[in-house]
Amino acid sequence: MRLLKNLASLRQWRSQQQRTVALVPTMGNLHEGHLSLVKKAQQQADVVVVSIFVNPMQFGANEDLDSYPRTLQADCQALEQLGVDAVFTPQVDDMYPRGLEAQTRIEVPGISDILCGASRPGHFVGVATIVCKLFNMVQPQVAVFGEKDFQQLQVIRLMTQDLSLPVDIIGVPTAREPSGLAMSSRNGYLSEAQKQQAASIYRTLQQLAQKLQQGSPQDAQRWAVEELSRAGFEVDYVEIRNADSLQPATAADAKWVALVAAKLGSTRLIDNLVIANDHA
Ligand code: PAF
Repeated sequence: MRLLKNLASLRQWRSQQQRTVALVPTMGNLHEGHLSLVKKAQQQADVVVVSIFVNPMQFGANEDLDSYPRTLQADCQALEQLGVDAVFTPQVDDMYPRGLEAQTRIEVPGISDILCGASRPGHFVGVATIVCKLFNMVQPQVAVFGEKDFQQLQVIRLMTQDLSLPVDIIGVPTAREPSGLAMSSRNGYLSEAQKQQAASIYRTLQQLAQKLQQGSPQDAQRWAVEELSRAGFEVDYVEIRNADSLQPATAADAKWVALVAAKLGSTRLIDNLVIANDHA
């Protein structure tokens, strides 16, 4: 496995690749969810490169940029065992040579300011900018992302489409603990007891899907907010949206997505469930 520590070595390595390349962008601290993205990438292309970069542009001023877990050695071992071809681990100066403030930004309007974008202003500009830069640097034919970050995936799909980038975007279903808890690097902030508590997010989503077939989206949302608050969460939102546009759900939508963001202690957790509208 090649360890590419800067843009120059990435470009040199990339110029030697004749076959199709898949990119799996990550911020490291890899878990089974990331590894499932890598396995999917290996099915989609001949060569797989994983990027590991904790992107400062997507963190808000009061967020966990400094404490975000950095576990490069263990990450590289796990990727080597999976047979990954290359790992790209740039430094901040490589990605933002003129500094963060001066950096040209990519904004996908509309979708970037709702849901998590409303609670985390600027977050999706940071995501779209870094993913666009990674696409330009790595020049992959395919890029793989987790469906756990559902809104992020839609932002990246729209950005790729709007900028006519020649990259196929593949989404991979959320990897879950046996309890149902969605795997996430931020689960590392939770105690064992909190992890058990956090598993109730997925149970609530599943029950919400049943309620939705009988009642209105508003009633189902209200029920889920109460349920999660009773379980000890500080709920940011529970929303049922059109699964493609993320606009408020209507009876005509073929597919909905129920999205949750809630805090347990100081840890912000997100999860989602795609739901077919049986009556569409
Ligand atoms: O999902 C993540 O880990 C990050 O948001 C991504 C896509 C690697 C961009 O920094």
